[in-house]
Amino acid sequence: MKIGIIGIGNVGLQVLKDIQLNEKINNFLSIEKILVRNKDKYFKILESEFGSKSLLLEKLTDNFNNFINSDIDTVIELIGGSDPAKDYVISALSSGKNVVTANKEIIASSIEELTSLAHSKKVKIRFEAAVGAGIPLLEVLIDMLKQNNISKITGIINGTSNYILSSMYYSNKSFDESLIEAQNLGFAESDPTNDIGGFDAMYKVCILGSIAFGAKVPIESVSVKGIENLSQKDIKYSRELGFVIKLLAVTENKSSKIYSNVAPYLVPENHPLAKVSDNYNAVEINGDLIGNLWLQGQGAGKLSTTSAVIGDLVGIEKNTSGNLMLDQKKLNFLSDDETIGKKYIRLNVEDKFGVLEKIAGIFSNNKVSIASVIQKEVDNKGLADLVIMTHESLGSNLNNALVEIGRLEFIQENPTTYEIYEL
Ligand SMILES: NC(=O)c1ccc[n+]([C@@H]2O[C@H](COP(=O)([O-])OP(=O)(O)OC[C@H]3O[C@@H](n4cnc5c(N)ncnc54)[C@H](OP(=O)(O)O)[C@@H]3O)[C@@H](O)[C@H]2O)c1
Repeated sequence: MKIGIIGIGNVGLQVLKDIQLNEKINNFLSIEKILVRNKDKYFKILESEFGSKSLLLEKLTDNFNNFINSDIDTVIELIGGSDPAKDYVISALSSGKNVVTANKEIIASSIEELTSLAHSKKVKIRFEAAVGAGIPLLEVLIDMLKQNNISKITGIINGTSNYILSSMYYSNKSFDESLIEAQNLGFAESDPTNDIGGFDAMYKVCILGSIAFGAKVPIESVSVKGIENLSQKDIKYSRELGFVIKLLAVTENKSSKIYSNVAPYLVPENHPLAKVSDNYNAVEINGDLIGNLWLQGQGAGKLSTTSAVIGDLVGIEKNTSGNLMLDQKKLNFLSDDETIGKKYIRLNVEDKFGVLEKIAGIFSNNKVSIASVIQKEVDNKGLADLVIMTHESLGSNLNNALVEIGRLEFIQENPTTYEIYEL
């Protein structure tokens, strides 16, 4: 297999090393071209990694035409982002080359287009590293689909958020302290928006849903709520109730409509997802024949990601993994308003007569049934937190109730709500 690699950053350099040094693969994989933006910078990096006599130094180019027209049959794209990565991948497939990429953004937004282009050009595109890095999730999912209907996938698929939530839960740290800790340890980027805002998990859940349900699950169909506003109070109150808060990504087929959600969920503390800590990822897949399948491992890191990239190359070379082809059909989707679920609600209220009755009345008028209410201690300003757990209720009913409650004069801040994960 004659390989051209685009981008030799954190993952790309590790992939290069593995292809050069791993005896299991270096007899049939060979690097023919390396596309970078700055040749001088990467000449020095390759020289220091592989020595001044390394043949890799001659393979560097900063010219895409020169790269794509060279004698390569497979392109590895490891630059990330959508521009110019998507154009590069389209160009590689169009010119009859296989593609391996770790790029969740372009796969989530263009999975249909890219897989059908590969199919029409009789080449392959693989992207195992785009979800869960080295965990062989997509391969297992595609394999299961041969005989199973998938009803639901639930996962912790963002290691950064999971690290922060673990630190808040186990070390009682604030969100900000936990974020700084994650950044210092290299688990969070200097701009963590994509991770803590839930967008990284959103891309990944689109890929999982598209594969599981056989047609594109677009980004716009996913409800997204990050962990950035999570307070230590909610971690504490939910712990007292027997829950651990986790950023879950869920994609589910509910009576032939797809519901996909990325949000902090209260997970019962004895559920396996509650025990997935630090930067680990875990995914549960529900299939009609296989039942619940559980995969867990390192969802990020250059070694784990390299394992997935090399696995994809070997799969293409040895023709061991199937070609993914999505239906052109359009799926139907459910919004938050149309879904039924249980919620945790925290209200900060003035501690005075009639408050509870008023709130209960609004929930009741909107057909939201309350499972329990706990009033926390009153602070020195005469304010108290009310923690309300609801029974199953329709999203639109709950949202209407919360809008009404938010307008009450004795409510001190906007209601805080989180999903409760149901087994
Ligand atoms: N790191 C992980 O743990 C992990 C896990 C799963 C998936 N991934 C995915 O793997 C991919 C690579 O991640 P990474 O961590 O290796 O990123 P990275 O360390 O930021 O490396 C990206 C590399 O791409 C180069 N690059 C950017 N634009 C380019 C262009 N137009 N032409 C040529 N080179 C270009 C950059 O070079 P410059 O020096 O010129 O900027 C840099 O060397 C991303 O899609 C990421 O989402 C990463």
